[in-house]
Amino acid sequence: MIGGVVERVMRAVLLGLSHRRFIGRFAKWMPLSRPIVARFVAGETLESALPALERLRAAGFRTTLDILGESVSSEAAARAAANGYVSAITALEAHRLDVNVSIKLSQMGLGVSPALVRENVARILTAASAAAGFVRIDMENHTTTDATLAVWRELRPLMAGSGDVGVVLQAALRRTPADVEELIAAGGRVRLCKGAYREPASVAFPGKADVDEAYSTIMKRLLDAGTYPALATHDDRIVDEAIAYAREHGIGPDRFEFQMLFGVRRDLQERLLRDGWTVRIYVPMGSQWYPYFMRRLAERPANVVFLATSVLRERRSG
Ligand code: FDA
Repeated sequence: MIGGVVERVMRAVLLGLSHRRFIGRFAKWMPLSRPIVARFVAGETLESALPALERLRAAGFRTTLDILGESVSSEAAARAAANGYVSAITALEAHRLDVNVSIKLSQMGLGVSPALVRENVARILTAASAAAGFVRIDMENHTTTDATLAVWRELRPLMAGSGDVGVVLQAALRRTPADVEELIAAGGRVRLCKGAYREPASVAFPGKADVDEAYSTIMKRLLDAGTYPALATHDDRIVDEAIAYAREHGIGPDRFEFQMLFGVRRDLQERLLRDGWTVRIYVPMGSQWYPYFMRRLAERPANVVFLATSVLRERRSG
């Protein structure tokens, strides 16, 4: 009971700290070279992230590349982020890696102007389509859901001839069952996750048990009727439930995939691969890793203990 309250408070504090205004102070104190950060982020540059992508491919995993960055406030930063993705798509193709990228609309200029975000996303989709690749539009907090789905709907025709673009839905949001039906009717590819953002109770379930239950229900609906859904979770219970459901209904590994984050539950990632399931690893890279890293700490406050002990150990030996 007390443990649960402490964990909830820590989670709220860490998500509060994930905002960009804390970035400068923290990044100086916590460089990417620290093992706890390197566990979750593959490298600061594409070049330094390539070995991780190659290792995963050699082991039999699929990958999706995320160039970290969010909530940009200038046109120049948004255009630079889109350029980074276009170059990355070329590099992934040249290295015969999965041409599969995950993008965030707040990084593409969603907060700057509707025209800018569309122009930037269109460039990425056109480049990915030329390589028969796949683009996933990540979902950010609930204030962006409508705009994200609108961009997906409008620009999806750009990939009609080759490749595809999909979206992410969050089980935590009360609106998601309705969105899932719309996506199923449109044949859209959905990644289902629990939801990583702190949301008000008016739009999201505040309790974890309700989120987990919503996840299971929506997951089964997607397995039955979705177009190659991606089940993004590290939750053993849900993963086992998905496998049991798939076996019971004759749904094979070619009909859906599991997705997990780089560095999280590597044991589970490997077990699923060994058992013949399709597993895609979400590989983040780039210098703007701070908000992403804080959300990973918030998901498992025990990570903070690892972080604190590693810092103390370095201080003592330094
Ligand atoms: P849960 O949080 O219940 O964790 C289950 C178990 O997994 C824990 O008990 C622990 O063992 C392990 N675990 C989970 N997180 C861990 C961590 N950080 N470190 C160590 N162990 C951990 N969210 C979003 O809002 N928009 C998005 O677009 C995406 N995209 C996305 C892509 C992919 C591929 C994944 C896997 C996840 C996302 N998410 C996301 C994040 C998602 O919403 C959610 O916050 C995390 O996946 C954690 O939830 P779980 O489903 O893993 O369950």
